[in-house]
Amino acid sequence: MKTKPNIKIRPVKKTDIIKWLAMRRALWPDCPPKKHREEMAEILADRRNEPAWVAESLSGELMGFLEVSVRNYADGAGRQNVGYLEGWFVRPKYRKQGVGRALIKTAEEWAVDRGFTHMGSDTWVGNTRSYKVHQAMRYKEVGRDVHFVKKLKIKNKR
Ligand SMILES: CC(C)(COP(=O)(O)OP(=O)(O)OC[C@H]1O[C@@H](n2cnc3c(N)ncnc32)[C@H](O)[C@@H]1OP(=O)(O)O)[C@@H](O)C(=O)NCCC(=O)NCCS
Repeated sequence: MKTKPNIKIRPVKKTDIIKWLAMRRALWPDCPPKKHREEMAEILADRRNEPAWVAESLSGELMGFLEVSVRNYADGAGRQNVGYLEGWFVRPKYRKQGVGRALIKTAEEWAVDRGFTHMGSDTWVGNTRSYKVHQAMRYKEVGRDVHFVKKLKIKNKR
């Protein structure tokens, strides 16, 4: 499928930081701004292993972004390097117009160019929209995780 001519996908650049940060904050509202900035700096410094793209409209508005990483394992793909969808977001007014699909298509092309045979992703249980959109993009469910934690008693040091 060809990307619609009114959607331009390009690598994120330093001058996108303010708008990119606003979109990141909408996707991950619990993440402190300082951590967002650190992560964005890491991404800009390692385009090979942490590429990120933005979708831009003809008038230069940023419509969404996609951040990807290289992981050495993904459920369903086993222990090998894979591309991994880390953050995928389209601003509400631009949704359901093919922007998200265009971003994914770009990332998958990047992964194929890197020689990867799989792209992994995850979402949280209950994110029905994300689940449906992954399915629409032909991502198959391969498992569900339950996370546990136990707070440990710290002995007083003598
Ligand atoms: C997920 C998200 C990035 C999709 O972006 P988008 O631009 O709306 O996606 P597209 O318009 O390219 O749609 C891609 C496919 O998903 C389907 N889809 C999109 N929104 C959908 C919805 N709410 N319910 C069901 N299917 C949906 C589309 O029909 C399309 O499939 P098709 O081409 O076969 O018709 C966007 O909804 C978003 O930012 N959501 C909030 C953040 C989020 O949940 N991110 C993913 C977390 S892992």
